[in-house]
Amino acid sequence: MKALVLAGGSGTRLRPITHTRAKQLVPVANKPVLFYGLESIRNAGITEVGLVVGDTAPAIEEAVGDGSAFGLQVTYLRQEAPLGLAHAVRIARGYLGDEPFVMYLGDNFLVGGITELVRSFDPAVHDALVLLTPVPDPEMFGVAEVRAGRVVRLVEKPAEPPSDLALVGVYLFSSAVHEAAAEIKPSWRGELEITDAIQWLIDRGRPVASTTVEGYWKDTGDVESILEVNGRLLDRRGDETAVHGDVDAVSELTGGVRVAAGARIRRSRIAGPVDIAAGTLIEDCSIGPWTSIGEGCRLRGSGLRRSIVLAHASIAGAHGIESSLIGHCAEIASDGDRGAPRRTLVLGDHSKVRI
Ligand code: DAU
Repeated sequence: MKALVLAGGSGTRLRPITHTRAKQLVPVANKPVLFYGLESIRNAGITEVGLVVGDTAPAIEEAVGDGSAFGLQVTYLRQEAPLGLAHAVRIARGYLGDEPFVMYLGDNFLVGGITELVRSFDPAVHDALVLLTPVPDPEMFGVAEVRAGRVVRLVEKPAEPPSDLALVGVYLFSSAVHEAAAEIKPSWRGELEITDAIQWLIDRGRPVASTTVEGYWKDTGDVESILEVNGRLLDRRGDETAVHGDVDAVSELTGGVRVAAGARIRRSRIAGPVDIAAGTLIEDCSIGPWTSIGEGCRLRGSGLRRSIVLAHASIAGAHGIESSLIGHCAEIASDGDRGAPRRTLVLGDHSKVRI
């Protein structure tokens, strides 16, 4: 079985970060979201991956390479514009041939992996297997109507959802989906929807199965979701503190702090779970919990919690930063007021802010 991973698209809900960055490469617990998906695919025993890329192809290619670092063979499939998930299937037709495949949306995060799912799919019995999970806001997703255990209808982002069962961004298909993807027309939002392709199969009496996701799942398409996944991942590491960098004697680290080799902590309090990447310098700060700080950052006299700081950002004298996403090489400067109100910032790469 091959995998088709979708890492194109435009990421409008993650602007301004996605003005300069692929949304699938935003790091959670200091690792790009996309890498977790690629690892799940490899863990399921799949080695051949078609990676659909759009405008951000160079960055994705630089990060993933030929896939060998993941134990995968990656073939890049260029999509000229984000014309929809079923459009991605169309352009992958030649690559996939007549093999069954798993389609994985590169911004989806699934804790339990996909090994069981891949094992349970038999293309001789079903033409599609979709994953469902109840959500409080089904209008934000593709939604399934299930009757007597069978999927009878799928609708994309319906104003009036027929149920609370959202489609998770992992799908298994037999080669029958290619006929469906070739036949459907663009939706009201101008995209070739995978939900319409699956509906096409259902309408023709083709066997479509569904299963409910047991573990934690999140579409990391917006800032709040990214922060939530980041926090979850850090929480899952437990309370153990692992210091490979250099922490001075007056700094205080509690509960699940990871300090990578080459990172330095001076006169600071770090309340885990926190992940600090290599080459970062933290001085006179109060950090955490649920915070990831990327490589080569400089944080001085600042306080932040439940946030993600991308590589090479600098923060000086800014307290009260919370639930924030700080872009690559962004610079924040403030006057060091410890009584500062809570500040939530979403800063694109190379932003400069004085507060
Ligand atoms: O996350 C689950 C949801 O994903 C499902 O419930 C929906 O039914 C499904 O349509 C999809 O909705 P989104 O609006 O979240 O899709 P998004 O545009 O974010 O695209 C998902 C991934 O696929 C993302 O990594 C970008 C990539 N993509 C998207 C499009 C439209 C492509 O590579 N090419 C495309 O043309």
